[in-house]
Amino acid sequence: MRIGILTGGGDCPGLNAVIRAVVRRSVSNYGSEVVGFLEGWRGPIENMVMPLTLQSTGGLIQRGGTILRTSRTNPFKIERGPERIMESMKSNRLDALIAMGGEDTCGVAHKMHQQHNLNVVCVPKTIDNDLNATDFTFGFDTAVNIVMEAIDRLHTTAESHNRVLVCEVMGRHAGWIACYGGIAGGADHILVPEIPIDLTNVVESIKKRHARGKDYSIVVVAEGAKLEHQEALKDQELDSFGHVRLGGIGETLAKLIEKHTGYETRAIVLGHIQRGGSPTAFDRVLATRFGVLAADLVQQKKFGRMVSLQGSFVKDVPVADGVDSLKTLDMDLYKVAEVFFG
Ligand code: F6P
Repeated sequence: MRIGILTGGGDCPGLNAVIRAVVRRSVSNYGSEVVGFLEGWRGPIENMVMPLTLQSTGGLIQRGGTILRTSRTNPFKIERGPERIMESMKSNRLDALIAMGGEDTCGVAHKMHQQHNLNVVCVPKTIDNDLNATDFTFGFDTAVNIVMEAIDRLHTTAESHNRVLVCEVMGRHAGWIACYGGIAGGADHILVPEIPIDLTNVVESIKKRHARGKDYSIVVVAEGAKLEHQEALKDQELDSFGHVRLGGIGETLAKLIEKHTGYETRAIVLGHIQRGGSPTAFDRVLATRFGVLAADLVQQKKFGRMVSLQGSFVKDVPVADGVDSLKTLDMDLYKVAEVFFG
């Protein structure tokens, strides 16, 4: 078989590990050939390809980002986008495509499978961990570890200066990174998009902590968290999937906390640092298992499927199950985090 592979959406640690696993499995075990499309869905639309061999994909397991590069291209917003994808599949003599991405990239794959009969298998990736039908996406564990390390470092400054430090983390509309990172780092309050921010509650909790002799606090806030009664921002630029660029809640919150507590408060935005660098061991192993299974599904012609982690097993599910709604934070986990607030 000849197989295409692409990476779309935000980069994330573990993408190269999947590419390596797909090529190794497909070439060594099945005698197939693999070709990479560059820059997400833009690759097949513009017919930008590069051959992927055992040589060119060796030694990739520890490398962050994606050697195929990526973009947030929505083919359904581009003139003849879907048709051009099918033409590229044909001109490159490809039997199947493996699409790696989050809700947007996999959402396009699902539509392409349904409306254009594209032979596609999806691999769920995102640091946000907000894809349904999989317990975890790879990249998430690495991001959480980066947040944890950052909070560890913030602790020493917060303690030395008697400050409140507000750490803004990514995650889009789901609080997974904030909650896992916050619990692991021992945050004193965690704010997530799933629950509107009750400022009085945050202020009371910080005051309570200071009253029992702790002169500093760490507050983790997810970029998508909103203050109660906060109006939706108008006239914001949207990307081709209709997403706004989030960010800024940390700074807003820090000012409010300082105003209402009188404690010196600063905001820190971790930003793209959370997506950078080498994947953790967990993400390397998960990415490798996903890559091997995706290659197997292609050989079995199980198209329109997505690989997923269920408990400790990797399985395949319909892509639709992964993308039909967002997987928001498990509230039982948030309740565990709350035990340590204040
Ligand atoms: O989906 C991954 C993610 O890092 C989100 O957490 C964040 O909101 C978004 O991508 C940022 O996207 P960009 O890198 O395009 O600014």
